[in-house]
Amino acid sequence: YFISLVFSELHCILLHLYDCTSAARYRFQKPQSIEEFLNPFIIDLLEIIDNGLTMNDTLFTLEISNISCDAPAKAFLLNVKSHNAYFGCTSCTEEGTYLEHRMTFPGLDTPLRTNETFRNKTDEEYHKGDSPLIRLPINIVEIVVLDYMHNVCLGVVKRLIEMWVKGNKQVRLEKVKKEKINFELNNLKQHVPAELCRLPRSIDDIEYYKATELRTFLLYSVYAIKILTCADTCCTYNDLASQFLKEFVRDYSVLYGSHLITYNVHSLIHLPMFVLKHGPLDNFSCFQYENYLVLT
Ligand SMILES: *[C@@H]1O[C@H](CO)[C@@H](O)[C@H](O)[C@H]1NC(C)=O
Ligand SMILES: *[C@@H]1O[C@H](CO)[C@@H](O)[C@H](O)[C@H]1NC(C)=O
Ligand SMILES: *[C@@H]1O[C@H](CO)[C@@H](O)[C@H](O)[C@H]1NC(C)=O
Ligand SMILES: *[C@@H]1O[C@H](CO)[C@@H](O)[C@H](O)[C@H]1NC(C)=O
Ligand SMILES: *[C@@H]1O[C@H](CO)[C@@H](O)[C@H](O)[C@H]1NC(C)=O
Repeated sequence: YFISLVFSELHCILLHLYDCTSAARYRFQKPQSIEEFLNPFIIDLLEIIDNGLTMNDTLFTLEISNISCDAPAKAFLLNVKSHNAYFGCTSCTEEGTYLEHRMTFPGLDTPLRTNETFRNKTDEEYHKGDSPLIRLPINIVEIVVLDYMHNVCLGVVKRLIEMWVKGNKQVRLEKVKKEKINFELNNLKQHVPAELCRLPRSIDDIEYYKATELRTFLLYSVYAIKILTCADTCCTYNDLASQFLKEFVRDYSVLYGSHLITYNVHSLIHLPMFVLKHGPLDNFSCFQYENYLVLT
């Protein structure tokens, strides 16, 4: 059995047990500290990981396959500085640059964090204290994944479209071009496959776009992400996607300004690594849990 843990800003722990049909959900009061929040759970989990769980005379063993959450919940869980801090990238050791009231991470080749450097707290500027996760037998930097629903769809894609629709004059789309996009999106409605749950709508409605709509927009326009979402291409063309994403971040800086290379934009360059470990993006994204979270 595999277990994947999803932590949300609503302070739920969602457990997904593979080969079981149900996802369990626990809800907590807003926790005071990460220790208080997680300790009882970690103790139980360790017990099961070490000894397995016997049900009806059958012994089940358990392995943690991934832990996914949005950036604030991830910083809380890892007990590290926030994604807006100077050493806020959870994948690499880049020192951020503070530009126009934003923390930015322009570097593309900074050394990565590792299981050992995390556990040794080698980067003193990064850690706030011990994370309860270090008691689990996992490679922390690989198992705690970058979630593309929050990071890419609700993060980068939404921000880009917002700039095109209502950004300042240098980056805003001319009215004619915007109307053209809206016209094409409207035209697309009749061709949308039944699998997509929402019809395309005008980018003027960007503030109401749901994560799934942002994903559709993304997958029909950005090649690198398409490579990483498809099981056939995500490993064979992983290097190519990595190059594209680095190029994207470089161009982003030229087109929109280096002050906008924030945590979400910077993190794009780390996505291909997680795909190599966990498979296509949807394997380790929060999308499959979104409905549970919305219901709470
Ligand atoms: C255990 O056995 C009972 C009775 O046969 C059955 O109803 C239940 O589903 C079984 N549980 C599991 C986890 O297999
Ligand atoms: C971690 O700490 C141990 C003991 O202090 C040391 O031997 C080891 O080299 C360190 N590893 C890294 C990657 O910093
Ligand atoms: C990560 O470090 C922990 C503690 O040293 C160890 O138990 C675990 O096997 C390591 N995981 C990997 C994949 O290196
Ligand atoms: C991705 O998820 C599918 C379905 O859950 C699974 O069969 C596959 O092994 C996963 N890929 C990796 C690399 O973990
Ligand atoms: C966790 O990993 C498993 C196996 O790689 C995958 O099938 C699943 O989709 C992942 N779940 C989450 C929430 O990331």
